[in-house]
Amino acid sequence: MNLKDYVALVEDFPKEGIKFRDITPLMNNGEAFRAATDKIVKYAEEKKIDLVVGPEARGFIFGCPVSYALGVGFIPVRKPGKLPREVVEYDYDLEYGRNVLCIHKDSIKPGQRVLIVDDLLATGGTVEATVKLIEELGGKVAGLAFLIELKELEGRKKLDGYDVFTLMDY
Ligand code: PRP
Ligand code: ADE
Repeated sequence: MNLKDYVALVEDFPKEGIKFRDITPLMNNGEAFRAATDKIVKYAEEKKIDLVVGPEARGFIFGCPVSYALGVGFIPVRKPGKLPREVVEYDYDLEYGRNVLCIHKDSIKPGQRVLIVDDLLATGGTVEATVKLIEELGGKVAGLAFLIELKELEGRKKLDGYDVFTLMDY
């Protein structure tokens, strides 16, 4: 199965000049969704992961089935005003705007091994913020998994020294 067959290209969304890679057709197909999830689970299996962290919103879609398959907890990283208890937060630039991300302060214990899962690596701003939040809480980022990497935006440069796994490149 070629997973790229299930990624739609939408030109000029959400702004002119952006080539939006839409993963909803992949989610819509049970076989493709399972194949993508299973590849990430396989990547993570040897890493002794304690927790999966996923950034809102698309990181929830893939992070949750991965955490379920690994039998570990899932921690949401969310936009401001969504998490009800004490948070730490980090703000950053996005390919098409600015964003702030938050995590519950008590969600990760020092030394816990964390897998970050998201649908797509673009500029790397979202994942860099997620790494900072995890490390501020004392977590160790043991791996990062994305379905898609947009190579020309060079998000990987922000992840030097980390173990990064991707399923598709554009
Ligand atoms: C998208 C995507 C990644 C991020 C990648 O999320 O799901 O999280 O952008 O871009 P970056 O590498 O330049 O940071 P978005 O912020 O659009 O939010 P959504 O998941 O709620 O749609
Ligand atoms: N998130 C950031 N850039 C994106 C893109 N080009 N397509 C889909 N999601 C994105």
